[in-house]
Order: sequence, then structure tokens, then C-alpha cells
Amino acid sequence: MIFTPLVFLVLGTIFLQLTSASNCSPAFIGKPVLHGAKIIDVQAEEVHNHSAISLGPGTNDGGRYTISFCHVTVTHTHPGWNDTINTQVWLPLSGWNGRFQALGGGGYSTGFGSLYLTYAASKGFASASVDGGIAVGTEAIPTDLSWALSSKGNVNWFLLEDYASKATNDMAVIGKQVTESYYQTAPSYSYFSGCSGGGRQGLIMAQNYPDAFDGIVASSPAIHLETFIPAGFWPEQLMNQYGVFPSPCEVEAFTAAAVKRCDRMDGVEDGIISSPRLCTVQAHDFVGQNYTCNGTQETLSTADARVIQAAWSGTGKHGWFGLNKDASLSSSSIPTTCRANGTCYSTGSELFGSWISYLVAKDPDFVLEDMNNSDFFDGLRYSTSQYAPMLAGANPDLSGFKANSGKMIAWHGLADEVIPPRGSEQYYEEVLEKDNEAHEFFRFFEAPGVGHCYGGLGPVPNDALTQLMEWVEKDVSPDTLVATKGSNDTARDLCPYPLEQKFIGGDPRNATSFTCANKP
Ligand SMILES: *[C@@H]1O[C@H](CO)[C@@H](O)[C@H](O)[C@H]1NC(C)=O
Ligand SMILES: *[C@@H]1O[C@H](CO)[C@@H](O)[C@H](O)[C@H]1NC(C)=O
Ligand SMILES: *[C@@H]1O[C@H](CO)[C@@H](O)[C@H](O)[C@H]1NC(C)=O
Ligand SMILES: *[C@@H]1O[C@H](CO)[C@@H](O)[C@H](O)[C@H]1NC(C)=O
Ligand SMILES: *[C@@H]1O[C@H](CO)[C@@H](O)[C@H](O)[C@H]1NC(C)=O
Ligand SMILES: *[C@@H]1O[C@H](CO)[C@@H](O)[C@H](O)[C@H]1NC(C)=O
Ligand SMILES: *[C@@H]1O[C@H](CO)[C@@H](O)[C@H](O)[C@H]1NC(C)=O
Ligand SMILES: *[C@@H]1O[C@H](CO)[C@@H](O)[C@H](O)[C@H]1NC(C)=O
Repeated sequence: MIFTPLVFLVLGTIFLQLTSASNCSPAFIGKPVLHGAKIIDVQAEEVHNHSAISLGPGTNDGGRYTISFCHVTVTHTHPGWNDTINTQVWLPLSGWNGRFQALGGGGYSTGFGSLYLTYAASKGFASASVDGGIAVGTEAIPTDLSWALSSKGNVNWFLLEDYASKATNDMAVIGKQVTESYYQTAPSYSYFSGCSGGGRQGLIMAQNYPDAFDGIVASSPAIHLETFIPAGFWPEQLMNQYGVFPSPCEVEAFTAAAVKRCDRMDGVEDGIISSPRLCTVQAHDFVGQNYTCNGTQETLSTADARVIQAAWSGTGKHGWFGLNKDASLSSSSIPTTCRANGTCYSTGSELFGSWISYLVAKDPDFVLEDMNNSDFFDGLRYSTSQYAPMLAGANPDLSGFKANSGKMIAWHGLADEVIPPRGSEQYYEEVLEKDNEAHEFFRFFEAPGVGHCYGGLGPVPNDALTQLMEWVEKDVSPDTLVATKGSNDTARDLCPYPLEQKFIGGDPRNATSFTCANKP
């Protein structure tokens, strides 16, 4: 019998139709092959009408999605490491778009499960998320780092390596095989998408596992987390040392004062500081100004200005950059709350504080308030030297990724209140220094007014993945990154770094009212 392509196609279609239900079984999926791993278990079952609030990493246009899919869970260990890692692969029962998409996590988590998977699968992707062997919640941003110690004083290096990059690559290898087993066709393209910790996962994949993905979106990446995380504790350190706790209203009053001074420097008054470098005001400039908090008039104080300035300047040459002045500091950088009698206290930043307890002091009971400033800076230096090689995600050599024809889009909100955008800028500059044509496969965009992953006044690049796919699959490079759904219905075409947005007149809500220009 001669199999003409047509006969083959017809037979193939019938085959798929006849077997689609039983394709979703452990026997049909089989055990993926992963170098260095022992597959412990494969589970597979069809799930119908799963409904959840979901979104793409680094977007603000999520919603409720209902999907039906083959839910595969692969459990594996690295023999000798005593770890147990679960990879979920969600395979749409109908409407597969032929592509695989792995999703990152955030905070001290490598994956957020349904929060990202539901949306990705609803768009037709065979989608994957991995728990990294870290048994913590999957739906919220986990700040729990207790998994990082084997015992008091001893880091669990194996889990840390899983978290750093290994489990993310495992997810790619497993996810692609499971996708091919189920659909009997290999995915035509493989993507990674992540924000924050997930953005760092994206960068480190391009650096360490350059053939894992054809395209990567790295949003608000937690680059150099071993440094920016303990450094992010600096305002809290000063609050503890001085015993001074600015109220959220006062913190917001400092931010409002800085925005008022700097807003117009980019040519348009919209509450957004698009050129942070021009905004050189200091917190001390505003001391003595009055503000109103809960109907009571108060005055911005010198003591509190020191704490605010710490968030804006960062730890300087011994550590890390600060946040920009339109970032909302009261949510994470200066976490305080006030009692009915008006006195305020620190509520503590779990994200920053737990790093110091678990990975610097290596003591879950460490009393952060007892650190003096020299302890703090010693800890910061220790963290950088001890953990950067494994965790930073900052190797500027992307030659492997380039050779593999990989494409990467990174972006960072300039009003990020958790991760200073200067870290991403510095990395992109280092990449260009190594390869002055890196622009051909890796572009970095800054999003004025956008907070961490989303939020803030500025429009968010919700379609970054679509633009990445155009680049990977059709060679249409993103000259600008389209951003929408900011406050007041704003749109912007974000500029590839080092260019930045310049107002050229018109309605500031309209993207055409801006152009990309060299930094002033
Ligand atoms: C899923 O939802 C559709 C539309 O509401 C419905 O027709 C179908 O019966 C549901 N399937 C299951 C298995 O509940
Ligand atoms: C392996 O991990 C389990 C739980 O994760 C723990 O209870 C056990 O003590 C570990 N075994 C060794 C040999 O470290
Ligand atoms: C702040 O308020 C005080 C008391 O009401 C007043 O004396 C002072 O002039 C005000 N300062 C400024 C800068 O408006
Ligand atoms: C202002 O009022 C709100 C709501 O009543 C309260 O949560 C907040 O702590 C108050 N702020 C200060 C500085 O007292
Ligand atoms: C405010 O309340 C706290 C907790 O009840 C108390 O410790 C503090 O002394 C009070 N401060 C003032 C100025 O009343
Ligand atoms: C800081 O505290 C440590 C103990 O935690 C102590 O050894 C050191 O002398 C202190 N340094 C300063 C400058 O006070
Ligand atoms: C929305 O934009 C219009 C036109 O630029 C402006 O007049 C208005 O103040 C803006 N509103 C907010 C809340 O930013
Ligand atoms: C935005 O600019 C385009 C092109 O100049 C124009 O057609 C459109 O009406 C503008 N939209 C708004 C909301 O101003």
C-alpha cells in the first residue's frame, strides 16, 4: 500500500479522533526521559470546565477562564538529592495551537499552577508549571523560604539549585515530551513566560539552558535576587535602628511631593516619571512640608526622610540600586501600619526579611531587629558572594541562546516597587558590551509608570508574548512593545532600551503622542 500524503493525513485524523480520550492516560503518555532524573510517577486525567481567575505573567488583563484539558502530572527526583518535583502539563482537549508554553513563578516559588496555566491553556498552549520540589502554596506569591534550610545553619543546596534553574529546565524537557506524546506531534515552538522571580527564571534559561526555548518573555526580572532582596531590607533596617516608622500616609506624601516635582520633566503631566534619571530630588528637600493624614495636618519630618531616601537611593556602592520616585513604597519597601492612637510600627517585609533569616543568618528564629548596620552590610556582602553564582541570572554571555536562534523580550516597569529597574538596565548594558548586536535577538523595554509586574498608572505590555511569537515565527522584530490598559485608558509604544519615550504633543493617553528618543 502506498501512503500518499493525503491518505496519511486522513488516517492520522481518524486515529486522533478515535483515541483522544484514552490519550489522556499515564499508559499513553508514558514516562518522559530526563537526564539525571528518576521519574517516580505519571498521572493523567481529563478535566472538564475548569474555571479560574487567571492571567499571563506580567499582564493586567486577566479574568475568569473556563477550560477543558488533559491534566498530566509528572513527579520526579534527582537521585541522591532527596527532592520530589511535580511538573503539571495542561493539554487543551481541543484547539491546541501547536505550541508549548512553560510558565514561571515568583517570590520563592518556581510556579503558580492554575493562576497562569488556565489562561495559557485557554489560548491553546500546551502549558506547564513546576513546583520545584518546594512544598508551598501555588496560588499566592509565596514569601515562605523555610524550604531553603535542611536544618538550622545548613542550606539545602539541592533545593536551591532546583529553584535557581534546574527544575525550570526539567519542566521544559518533561513538558515538551508530554505534549508530543499526547498530541502525537512535537510542539512547533516552545516558549517561556514569567514575571518577577519568573522573569529571572527566563533570563537564567537563556544563559544556562539556551536550547530549552525558542522564545522567552522575562518581565520585571528578579535579576541578582541574592543582592536586591537583602538590599531591599535597608529602609526597614533603618526604621528598626532609628525606631522611626513613617505612616503609610506620610510615605505617600513624600512620593506625591517627588512626583509633583518630576512629573513634567518628561514633557507631560500624568503622574508618571518617564525619565527617572532627571528626577534628582531628595527626600530631605520636602522636610517641613505639610500633608494631611486622616483629616489631621502633619509635617514631613527629617527622621522619616532618611527612611524614604534609603528606599530611593538603595544601599549604594556596597549593594544595590534604589527604587524610582513614583514607585509605591508603602506596599513593600516601607511596610508600616498605624494604631488607633496614631503611633506606627513596622509590619515587616516577609520577602526581604525571610531571605536574611534563612539564607544569611540560616536561623528561622533570627531577630532582624537586633542587626546593627555593620551586621546588615556584612550579611549583604555574604549573600552576594555566596549565592550570586547559582541564583543571579546575570551572565551576560547569551551566545548559546543566540546560536540556537532564540529570541527574548524583557521589560521592567519604571515604577516597580519591589525590584529596582536599574538592575535590568545594567544587565542589558552588560549584554550589549559582550555582543553589540544582541539587539537582534534580545530586546529590553522600560514601561513608565508600571509597578511590579503590573499595577501603577502606566500602560502594561499585555501582548509581549504575541509580539515575541511574531519575532520567533515570522521574524517580525518588536521595534516597540505595545502597552495598553493603563489608568485613564492610556496606551504607549514602549521603547527599546536605551531609547526612551518622548512626548511630542497631543493627547497623552494616545500612544502616537510619544516617540522613542535617546535619553536626555
Ligand atoms: C461543560 O460546559 C458545557 C457548556 O456549559 C456543557 O455543555 C458541558 O456539559 C460541560 N461538561 C461537563 C463535563 O460538565
Ligand atoms: C528527605 O526529605 C524528607 C522530606 O522532604 C525528609 O523528611 C528526610 O529527612 C530527607 N532525607 C534525607 C536523607 O535527607
Ligand atoms: C505647616 O503647617 C503649620 C501649622 O499649621 C504652619 O505653621 C506652617 O506654615 C505650614 N508649613 C507650610 C510649608 O505650609
Ligand atoms: C488612617 O485611617 C485608616 C483607616 O481608618 C487607617 O487604616 C490608617 O492606619 C490611618 N492612618 C494613620 C496614619 O493613622
Ligand atoms: C499607642 O498604643 C500602643 C499599643 O496599644 C501603646 O503601646 C503606645 O504606648 C500608645 N502610644 C501612645 C502615644 O499613646
Ligand atoms: C554589631 O553587632 C555585632 C553583634 O551582632 C557586634 O559584634 C558588633 O561589634 C556590632 N558593631 C557595631 C559597629 O556596633
Ligand atoms: C485623564 O486624561 C485627561 C486628558 O488627558 C485628563 O484631563 C484627566 O485629568 C485624566 N484623568 C486622570 C484620572 O488621570
Ligand atoms: C490617537 O491618535 C490617532 C492618530 O493620530 C488618532 O486617529 C486618534 O483619534 C487618537 N485617539 C485619541 C483617543 O485621541
